[in-house]
Amino acid sequence: MTPVSPVRATGSAPAFFSAWDLHAYYGESYIVQGVSFDIREGEILALLGRNGAGKTSTLRTIARMSNPGLTSGEIWLDHKPLHSMKAYDAANNGVGLVPEDRCIIPGLTVEENLQLAQIEGPSGWSIERLYDHFPRLAERRHQEGVTMSGGEQQMLAVARALARDVKLLLLDEPYEGLAPVIVREIESILEEIKNLGITTIIVEQNAIAALHLADRALILDMGQVVFDGSAQEVLDNAELRQEYLAI
Ligand SMILES: Nc1ncnc2c1ncn2[C@@H]1O[C@H](COP(=O)(O)OP(=O)(O)O)[C@@H](O)[C@H]1O
Ligand SMILES: [Mg+2]
Repeated sequence: MTPVSPVRATGSAPAFFSAWDLHAYYGESYIVQGVSFDIREGEILALLGRNGAGKTSTLRTIARMSNPGLTSGEIWLDHKPLHSMKAYDAANNGVGLVPEDRCIIPGLTVEENLQLAQIEGPSGWSIERLYDHFPRLAERRHQEGVTMSGGEQQMLAVARALARDVKLLLLDEPYEGLAPVIVREIESILEEIKNLGITTIIVEQNAIAALHLADRALILDMGQVVFDGSAQEVLDNAELRQEYLAI
């Protein structure tokens, strides 16, 4: 039987991505507390909230990492039920998580890190196409990945996700710890990705930068959604930003 996405309360067609009443725990700690949202294909969603609000946990839940453990709820990506998959299958079905710590593999060159991403599962961009979009990586293709600067490692982490057939890109604090000039460079790469129509969730402490990139915004507080609307609404609403983002 072909699985069918749940029919929304509104009766509208199922979204490209849909998270529906997600509950997830680290052991006994109840962290993701009934999170629901949809994303249209090609849309960029900024997932915002203070430190500890549950942003990383929500991304990890979607990517089907074993922690936090999803106890109930449904996650659909392009008609595939991610909620019944583990991380490996979720990745093969198009989820590309770029974690906060970037996870570049030590001992491997830039090129080997990219090749490794293409060993299993459906491939995305070719190495040559990646080098066209990330010329700094082309220059450093024979350098050990972990010896590069923070910004270059962030580029490699994003490139590695694009080396897979990614349908939903999950970026956890891509600007963290980077100098403003490098942030602008990563921003222009993300603008390009946006123009290519890759559906993306971006988590950022630098909320203003994320909101300028995003179409929509979701604000979390204590593991629950407290705002779901357009990115422009958050930019225009100083009270909302003050209350939940402290900016
Ligand atoms: N591995 C873990 N074990 C237990 N609790 C965790 C773990 N990781 C995060 N938490 C808790 O989950 C909550 C949400 O964390 P997180 O999702 O990392 O927030 P954010 O990314 O919004 O800063 C916090 O209270 C944090 O302490
Ligand atoms: Mg986090």
